[in-house]
Amino acid sequence: MKREDLDALLKDMSIEEKIMQLVQIPGWSFEKDAAVTGIAENEATDKAKRLAGSILGVNGADKVKAIQEEYVKNHPHHIPMLFMLDVIHGHDTVFPCPLAQGATFDPEISRKGAAIQAKEAAADGIQVTFSPMVDLVRDARWGRVMESTGEDPYLNGEMAAAMVKGYQGDSISDKEHVAACVKHFAAYGAAEAGRDYNNCELSEYALRDQYLKGYNKAIDAGARLVMTSFNTLNGVPSSGNKWLMRDVLRKEMGFDGVLISDWGAIGEMVPWGFAEDLKEAAELAIKAGVDIDMCTESYAANLEELINSGEIKEELLDEAVMRILNLKNDLGLFEDPYHGACDERHKEIALSEESRNVARDAVRKSLVLLENREETLPLKDKKIAIIGPYAVEKKLHSSWALSLDPEKNVTLMEAAGEADKVSLYLGMNKAISADDKQNTIVRVAKGSTVLDNDTVIGNGEYHDDDFEETNERLYAEAMEVANWADTVVLCLGEDLGQSGESTSRADIMLPDIQMELFYGIRKNAKKLVTLIFTGRPLDLEHIPELSDALMICWRPGTEGGHGIWDVLSGIHSPQGKLPMSFPWVVGQAPIHYNAFNTGRPKPEEGPGDFTTRYLDCPNEARYPFGYGLTYSEFEISDIVLDKTSLKKEVPGSKKDKITASVKVKNSGLVPATQTMQLYLRDISASRVRPQMELKGFKKVRLFPGEEAEVAFEINEEMLRFWTIDNVYDSEKGKFKVFIGVDSATENEADFVLE
Ligand code: BGC
Repeated sequence: MKREDLDALLKDMSIEEKIMQLVQIPGWSFEKDAAVTGIAENEATDKAKRLAGSILGVNGADKVKAIQEEYVKNHPHHIPMLFMLDVIHGHDTVFPCPLAQGATFDPEISRKGAAIQAKEAAADGIQVTFSPMVDLVRDARWGRVMESTGEDPYLNGEMAAAMVKGYQGDSISDKEHVAACVKHFAAYGAAEAGRDYNNCELSEYALRDQYLKGYNKAIDAGARLVMTSFNTLNGVPSSGNKWLMRDVLRKEMGFDGVLISDWGAIGEMVPWGFAEDLKEAAELAIKAGVDIDMCTESYAANLEELINSGEIKEELLDEAVMRILNLKNDLGLFEDPYHGACDERHKEIALSEESRNVARDAVRKSLVLLENREETLPLKDKKIAIIGPYAVEKKLHSSWALSLDPEKNVTLMEAAGEADKVSLYLGMNKAISADDKQNTIVRVAKGSTVLDNDTVIGNGEYHDDDFEETNERLYAEAMEVANWADTVVLCLGEDLGQSGESTSRADIMLPDIQMELFYGIRKNAKKLVTLIFTGRPLDLEHIPELSDALMICWRPGTEGGHGIWDVLSGIHSPQGKLPMSFPWVVGQAPIHYNAFNTGRPKPEEGPGDFTTRYLDCPNEARYPFGYGLTYSEFEISDIVLDKTSLKKEVPGSKKDKITASVKVKNSGLVPATQTMQLYLRDISASRVRPQMELKGFKKVRLFPGEEAEVAFEINEEMLRFWTIDNVYDSEKGKFKVFIGVDSATENEADFVLE
């Protein structure tokens, strides 16, 4: 439709029709006899089903088509409904969770993954995904860190922009793509004490300098929707924050797409104590520019009265409706209300070999090797034990993979069993056959249940069927298998219901039952490789020093087992880098590498009384941001700068720049990929600046003995920040540049901005 046609359509719509475009209802409203959440009366329910502009949580092409067909037929102007769903890290093919994708430091793999998710979801009836989640996360107590790509604004921005491009492609009218919704605006990740849905107390400096940058890049990449957050920001709930939504998001960031509330968030302004009732909540939200009310009756029940009484102008309504109509139009829904949804096609493309290969590649790239003493990995022995609940656990996705079939996930046990020249045995109850004697023998034992019987988990959706199974029996079998093996691979972790929404934890350790297993195995194993499946950084207690090798496997998704086996067996060297600091203990949270130095920085050695330090643990993370080993060794040269000063104002159009380079040499024995990281520090400024900030990264793949130069450009724009005058600008003076393999690098050089 042309713009004039949309204008004419809007003009012709009744107030009720227009208001209902702003209402989103949950998918189950269309189940027989269901009431619509938040839209209490039956009459309203019918109205919502007839007129609501969008729906969330329904997929299945035939189902979607049936709802849409009926809806369009009965709608007074035959305007199609929008179908939205949380396709966060996979629809059928599930990719590693977003935090794991952050660990790849590879935006391209996330772009490819998002494109596959879009293709599968679109064929299955979805037109909008509530992704990417770009909340900056520093506090591992918050369960939703799993949905983010981590603690760094630059990395988050790069990953989010790539995901937006993957979901949306060149045009959302393309039937293989969906519209992306950036969330949760804003600063949801700063929830006080890591407790979900909580207040965020942030200075405008911290907000702008750290928290908003990621969202901004996703919006610049063209994301068509933004979602408000559940938190308050300095006392103001996001869905009623006019300054945040109208001044910052729309005017400053230039966002002109659809702003949708998070689930029930408009109504939540009442219990927050920001609105007296749903009517006032509706007024605050529409004035703040929230276009769609997700699952409350605030808009449906109150907007008409607010317009009639003159409390809000009809133009506000029209503005919101037009944004929604535009989105529908750009998706091509007026021509094809199903956006290409087709069950046959969905079946054909879901979980294709090609998609699985991309997911497998993403898993390999996301694994972070934290320890590898005496080159324990890759596996070399002929007698391998794979032990632990995550050796056999099929639920390798996260609580935000909603439409997958977990049976399609590949466990580590299954992957090992499929490998060439490997024979798989369960437990010790069978002698090795003569035919298998030449092979690597892998014996598998579950070792323990996933959780302790009394562990509290989120979502209430998980029930371990093995609760009743005797852990003594599992434990005894595991010890026998461990005794037999030359190397034990022990698979421990957090349950899928322990990270995601509403899963804050005051303690971030593994379940006791798994720690008991760990200590038992350590006593019995000759060599111990520990794998951790998790959605958040954990307090790993004594695991790092007692393991010969330690690798973080995150929530790896469909191809988890394959990708992990590829790395364990040495076909691929690990290359993942931590996107979030791993603390020593939970008491360090929130912890992040880009912190301030303080006026009393901790001396390197000595008791350092009256300097900034904990008495009982280091200040630094146990494993810092950007950290991760490969199977090889790398030598990094000193930094070479082609010049040591940069001009702030350069006449003419050409921007001044410094080239900073290092030589990187693979001095080990196997080919490997290293991720070189560029950090900058502003030595003194009108506001205190972080000790270092990531400004670039580059992957370099080298064969043993091979050397390459890795060069980064530094320009004035990279030195900008929110100055004391509240402008985004650079300030003249001294700077440091760091280039290394993680954020603990001391490889530095100096330059000035003149
Ligand atoms: C979550 C959002 C999600 C929405 C719709 C909310 O509870 O906070 O991230 O997109 O539900 O499912």
